[in-house]
Amino acid sequence: MRHLPLLSNHSSSRAALTCEYRCGNACFHDVPNTSANNYLGDVVQQLIDRRTAFKAGAVVAFAASTGFAATGTATADPEERQRPDQAPRGLDFKAVAPNQLDAVVVPDGYQQHVVIRWGDPLFPGVPQFDFDDQTAEKQAQQFGFNCDFAALLPQDPLGLVNLLVTNHEYTTEPMMFHGYDANNPTEEQVRIAWAAHGLSVVMVRRSATSGKLTPSFSRFNRRFTLHTPFEVRGPAAGSDLLKTSVDPTGKRVLGTMNNCSGGVTPWGTILSGEENFNQYFANAGPLNDPRLTRYGVTGTATGRKWERFDKRFDLAQEPNEVNRFGWVVELDPNDPTSTPVKHTALGRFKHETANIRVAADGRVVAYSGDDERFEYIYKFISTGKVRKGDSKAARRHNMTLLDDGTLYVGRFTGDSPPAEIDGTGKLPSDGNFDGSGEWIPLASGDRSFVEGMTAEEVYVFTRLAGDKVGATKMDRPEDIQAHPTTGVVYCALSNNVDRGKPGKEGATEPNPRLLNKHGQVLEVTERRGDPLALAFSWNLFLVCGDPAAPDTYFAGFPKDQVSPISSPDNVAFDPHGNLWISSDSAAALNGNNDGLFGVPVSGSHRGHLKQFLTVPRGAETCGPVITERVVLVCVQHPGEVDGANADNPVSHWPDGGTSQPRPSVVAVWKPGRRQPDGIGS
Ligand code: FEO
Ligand code: CA
Ligand code: CA
Ligand code: CA
Repeated sequence: MRHLPLLSNHSSSRAALTCEYRCGNACFHDVPNTSANNYLGDVVQQLIDRRTAFKAGAVVAFAASTGFAATGTATADPEERQRPDQAPRGLDFKAVAPNQLDAVVVPDGYQQHVVIRWGDPLFPGVPQFDFDDQTAEKQAQQFGFNCDFAALLPQDPLGLVNLLVTNHEYTTEPMMFHGYDANNPTEEQVRIAWAAHGLSVVMVRRSATSGKLTPSFSRFNRRFTLHTPFEVRGPAAGSDLLKTSVDPTGKRVLGTMNNCSGGVTPWGTILSGEENFNQYFANAGPLNDPRLTRYGVTGTATGRKWERFDKRFDLAQEPNEVNRFGWVVELDPNDPTSTPVKHTALGRFKHETANIRVAADGRVVAYSGDDERFEYIYKFISTGKVRKGDSKAARRHNMTLLDDGTLYVGRFTGDSPPAEIDGTGKLPSDGNFDGSGEWIPLASGDRSFVEGMTAEEVYVFTRLAGDKVGATKMDRPEDIQAHPTTGVVYCALSNNVDRGKPGKEGATEPNPRLLNKHGQVLEVTERRGDPLALAFSWNLFLVCGDPAAPDTYFAGFPKDQVSPISSPDNVAFDPHGNLWISSDSAAALNGNNDGLFGVPVSGSHRGHLKQFLTVPRGAETCGPVITERVVLVCVQHPGEVDGANADNPVSHWPDGGTSQPRPSVVAVWKPGRRQPDGIGS
């Protein structure tokens, strides 16, 4: 067994390689949010203003409790109860112990299988992957690099035929090419990287007797790359801020980038967030534009040097190209001829994801987080109402819902005296990190609610709008999603190692730890359970880290029975309503590998977090999909540890031997389980 190198000389617990290529070393730069808006609780304790399927499309529902188990036919039962000595349904597995193995480790009695790897062909006639003979042309027809989000869209009642949709967040060139020279990348290497970004759609067939999923060529298979045309829609479409020399309309963008996490809509389409887009654009420094700085677009040359091969990545030549990224994109995997969309009404920031909930009257709500230290949580409420049915016309209509509505940002207020939030993670005297909050409107159509900003500016420079209205600075809002039956919204707040550093905001009740290495999981309950409400209550469900440490909290569950977890990233729900969380930076806990965890959110086991699997060394766990038959995870950036590269690989997962590591999707299942609660019940 080989161990991960110690990473303690690094401000992030991720490998330097991952930090550079994933987010352009965001943790090493000063935080872009230097706004003066303070946490409300720091200023004065006050009451807030009280005014305050089979095919997925077939399951659109309208009740306030509307839920959508993206891949399940079973529904969660909030009243489902178990004896105190009995594991909740869906979570009856023995927790996997923390480890540093170069393997995916699953609980005893479970099996696993690699579904698809970086470079696997998606179309007939495409050559098999050859690490030493890769080309951009081949890459554009093969599975991309660094899969992050995954969705499984069943195409039949048994879920035997599915469309697997994944994104490819970023490329790590030193892991992709022998002898990579970061100062002098070749044009072909750059073109391969453009083709390795984006998203994939591939049909996968499930074995009738197991969870094994086999990719197949089908007319639905697609690749979305840096050159796929996207239609820009919503109130900022056609804005001067989005026009370039290549696109004087401001309505047609080539490509999507740094797609991180996503969601399945009730109408069967996929949403994906464009996250760390800032790192791809060169020569911002000389422009000295505070709007660029606020988004972390700084400096001269970029890390990947794309600006040498396409002028659109050079702000000196195309100052608006950067404004055409940072959006939520929507694609319809059910229609292989459809044009994907960028939705400007959801605002522009480092979108981690967007997830939909349908209100009782049919309007839809989208939640999205801005994943950076001290950034905000947003909510969008549509004007239009969802149309039932699985027809192409219904999907076309429903794909317009995110084009027209009102965008809000969250303000969170604690209910404990500020003096009790001392930064150590010690619970305040009321026993909870909790309080109330409100959604503050930013813009609706062409109407701005932010003084000094037009609606267009609010949509394109949404971070600045959040600053002006006093939004709450959170600890890296990652994935956010409403529980399918209770509607309670769960948000992973990954970490914030800058909280409380000189000149930075200190502890607040929703972000209660200084130099927060391990993150927390937030629960938001909309008033009266109505997703359209503009007021909510909130509490911290988990305060992550080593359960033996006094600063951790697992909803009050005995801590000697829970698994350690650091840096929650993606969230998902199983058909029983349990929450599943993937982690990104477990190395912060004794150098261990990242994992996937399941935890009940109700009943006597609420907070009983257990590790379901771990991923190989250097990897993070992403995109969990939890169905009755199979658990899917994306294993992103395996082998990315300090000092590793293609000439010195320290992981050989998944192919073994002396092979190069390859980001891949993995399926896990329990053999012999045929009933619809196969995930360990
Ligand atoms: Fe790409 Fe926010 O993780
Ligand atoms: Ca409290
Ligand atoms: Ca993420
Ligand atoms: Ca991540």
